[in-house]
Amino acid sequence: MSRKILVTGGAGYIGSHIVRQLGEYGYDVVVYDNCSTGIPQAVLYGELIIGDLSDINRLYQVFGKHQFDAVVHLAARLVVPESVAYPLDYYSNNTCNTINLLHCCNVMGVDKLIFSSTAAVYGESNQNFVTEDAPTSPINPYGRSKLMSELIIQDYARASTLRYVILRYFNVGGADPVGRIGQNSRATHLIANACNAALKRQSELKIFGTDFPTPDGTGIRDYVHVEDVATAHIDGLRYLEDGGNSEVVNCGYGEGYSVRQVVERVKAKAISGVDFPVINGDRRDGDPASVTASIQKIKKMLSWQPKYNNLDAIISSALAWEKRKLK
Ligand code: UFG
Repeated sequence: MSRKILVTGGAGYIGSHIVRQLGEYGYDVVVYDNCSTGIPQAVLYGELIIGDLSDINRLYQVFGKHQFDAVVHLAARLVVPESVAYPLDYYSNNTCNTINLLHCCNVMGVDKLIFSSTAAVYGESNQNFVTEDAPTSPINPYGRSKLMSELIIQDYARASTLRYVILRYFNVGGADPVGRIGQNSRATHLIANACNAALKRQSELKIFGTDFPTPDGTGIRDYVHVEDVATAHIDGLRYLEDGGNSEVVNCGYGEGYSVRQVVERVKAKAISGVDFPVINGDRRDGDPASVTASIQKIKKMLSWQPKYNNLDAIISSALAWEKRKLK
C-alpha cells in the first residue's frame, strides 16, 4: 500500500513542487491549503482540501478520514517586511497553527513530521557558513514565528513518539524545469522582482541597502533551486521511514551571492539580455547583511544530492516561469 502524506501549504510555491515530486515517487498525497497565496491548479497530484489550519475541527476531520503516515508542514506566511508590519498574523498563522497540527498528530498517532523552517532563525550570524548549531537569534517576527514553532515541535517530540526533520531553507528560487509550476503569489523576492524588471513588468529594480558590511555593500544570500528543496523533503521522509532520529538541517548550497551579482546575472546576455534600471534604495526592515549555509549535515544525514546547484539555472527557470505567466 502506498504511503499517505499530508502536505499543508501544498498549493503554494514550494509545496506544489514537493507534491509533484511525492506524486512522481508514488506517494499518496492529500494537500490542505487555504489558497490565500497558493492556487488549486498548482496541485498536480493527489487530493486538495481547501481549509485553514486555524480550523482545528476541520483538521481533525481530515486526519480522521485519512490515515496519514507523515505530515509535511509548510503552510505559513513568509514575507519578512510583512511580518514586521503584521506580527500577530505571523504568530497566529505560523506558530499557533503549528500547535493545532501537532494536536492532530498527537491524537491520531502520526509520528513523522517534515517542517519547513528558515534561515531567518539565525538572524545576523557571524559565521561565514552558518551551521545548524549556531545561535538562533532571529531579527524579525517571521524568523521568530518559525523558531518558536521549531522549539514547540522539539518539546512535543521529547514527550511523544514524534520524529521530525526540520529543514531550514535559505533563499529558494527557480521553478519547475518544464514550466508546469512556479511562484504565483505577488513577487517580493529578489529574483522574481529582477525577472519582472527584465520583462518590463516593473520599471526598475530597487536595491534595498547598499551600505551593508559586504564586499559590494549589498545583501548576500544563499540561493537554492526549488527542485532541490523539494527533493530534500523526499530525502527527509525516507530518512524518517528508515528509522532516522529527529534532526534540524540547513537547506542551501553553501554559496553566497550579493544583490548586485544576482541582478548582473539576470541582465546577462545568456539569460535575459535586458538592461533595466537599478535604483539604490534604503535598507528594508529586518534584513540581515549576509546569510550563507553550511550544508555538510544535510548531505550526510539525508544523503541529499542537489542537481541544480547553479545561480544561472535558478534565474533562467524563474525567468521562463515569469514569461509563461505573461501569456
Ligand atoms: N532585495 C532587493 N530588492 C528587491 C528584493 C530583495 O534588494 O526587490 C534584497 C533584499 O534586501 C535581500 C536580498 O535581496 O538582501 C534577498 O531578499 P528576498 O526578499 O529575496 O529574500 P529574503 O532574504 O528577505 O528572505 C528569504 C525568504 C525567507 C528566508 C530568507 C533566508 O523569504 O523565508 O530568505 O535568508 F528566511
